[in-house]
Amino acid sequence: MTERASDAATACRVCRGAVTEFLDLGRQPLSDAFRDRADTGPEFFFRLAVGQCASCTMVQLMEEVPREAMFNDQYPYFSSGSAVMRKHFTETAQFFLETELTGPDPFAVEIGCNDGIMLQTISDAGVRHLGFEPSGSVARVARENGVSVRTDFFEESTAAEVRATHGPAAVVFAANTLCHIPYLDSIFRGLDVLLDDNGVFVFEDPYLGDIVQKTSFDQIYDEHFYLFSAHSVQNTAAEFGFELVDVARLGVHGGEVRYTLARAGKREPSAAVAAMLEEESERRLAEPETLREFAAAVGRIRDDLVSLLSDLRAQGKRVVAYGATAKSATVTNFCDIDTALVSHVCDSTPAKQERLSPGKHIPVLPSEAFSAPYPDYALLFAWNHADEIMAKEQEFRRGGGRWILYVPSVRVV
Ligand code: SAH
Ligand code: TYD
Ligand code: ZN
Repeated sequence: MTERASDAATACRVCRGAVTEFLDLGRQPLSDAFRDRADTGPEFFFRLAVGQCASCTMVQLMEEVPREAMFNDQYPYFSSGSAVMRKHFTETAQFFLETELTGPDPFAVEIGCNDGIMLQTISDAGVRHLGFEPSGSVARVARENGVSVRTDFFEESTAAEVRATHGPAAVVFAANTLCHIPYLDSIFRGLDVLLDDNGVFVFEDPYLGDIVQKTSFDQIYDEHFYLFSAHSVQNTAAEFGFELVDVARLGVHGGEVRYTLARAGKREPSAAVAAMLEEESERRLAEPETLREFAAAVGRIRDDLVSLLSDLRAQGKRVVAYGATAKSATVTNFCDIDTALVSHVCDSTPAKQERLSPGKHIPVLPSEAFSAPYPDYALLFAWNHADEIMAKEQEFRRGGGRWILYVPSVRVV
């Protein structure tokens, strides 16, 4: 890792190497900043562009949004909104209880515990735990569910305080959170202080391999600062005195990887690590050419989606969207989809309902509005929850309704 960026604005957040931009998704709002209908104040926008470090291969955003602008008392993403995710995290907690948390009086820490979807099971088992959760809205719910929460960002200083008061952690876990954190140097210094000598740091996040394969460009938004691969995670771990010792592919959220890190030299890396690194090399995942092809495919999806929605409008069809996801902020703002093409978005989250989507101001209505009456077409923004949503909305399709999907390509089903 010898290449250095000459200009600080394009220096890799992990290794200071040179970051080359490969995709510009334009002017974007905060993906989870739903607006009150009466709000006429200015909206925050930034340039959403993504690049890759020539040195450590890490794929990362070119611009960073201040963390307090995203994660605060208004944060509207509640993890427990999906039954599939509840099951996934109950199983994750049970796995930790059977593996890393079997010693005398073990201590588990979660970074980004949200509404307690994972830690609740650890708490119910009577195991010592602490969740870090800076967003007061969701931290409050975790606490109501019997989870111990510190309403704070995990970083070097807060980790050190917890080490001093609670002792070392056998496991630190983070789901869909590490990729939200640009300041990995501080995170790893915090892990170094907090983790037991033989402890593990386990995290799961959207996988670059799946994003490229599915052209799921909507995984790129303000909160997703990094798109990890086994290669970039291995290099990051090495940069901070850790080692990648296990990996596992996960089907949730459109394709993720669960990475296990230990202190360097402490655990034998599994065969799965070598296999994933090999597979990434074979498919040239870290090659600039692969990422340029991905960027070209993103442009084709935008053209196809806008052309389909425009045709349906010309035919007088009723089109609504389903799932006011953070991902959909990227889709609507990059493709310029507003109420002329999609009348409203249905979503089960009370904190998003009766508000307007970021940037394009599409009204968000409760799920019940979906059937009152059913539209002709539903644009599935929560495509990562397709099985769960299509199972509960079978009536829509039976009545002739059709889903519009845009990942991995635009199609009607
Ligand atoms: N783990 C949950 C929540 C993911 S959303 C799940 O997988 O569903 C990401 C969460 O990380 C948000 O609740 C956000 O408030 C939190 N977060 C962001 N930065 C953080 C930090 N530095 N430390 C701890 N939590 C953080
Ligand atoms: P999700 O795709 O999990 O995350 P992100 O916001 O990070 O892209 O968001 C799913 C959204 O869809 C969330 O607002 C809840 C909503 N939803 C429903 O309305 N109905 C459902 O059955 C499910 C599973 C989710
Ligand atoms: Zn780098």
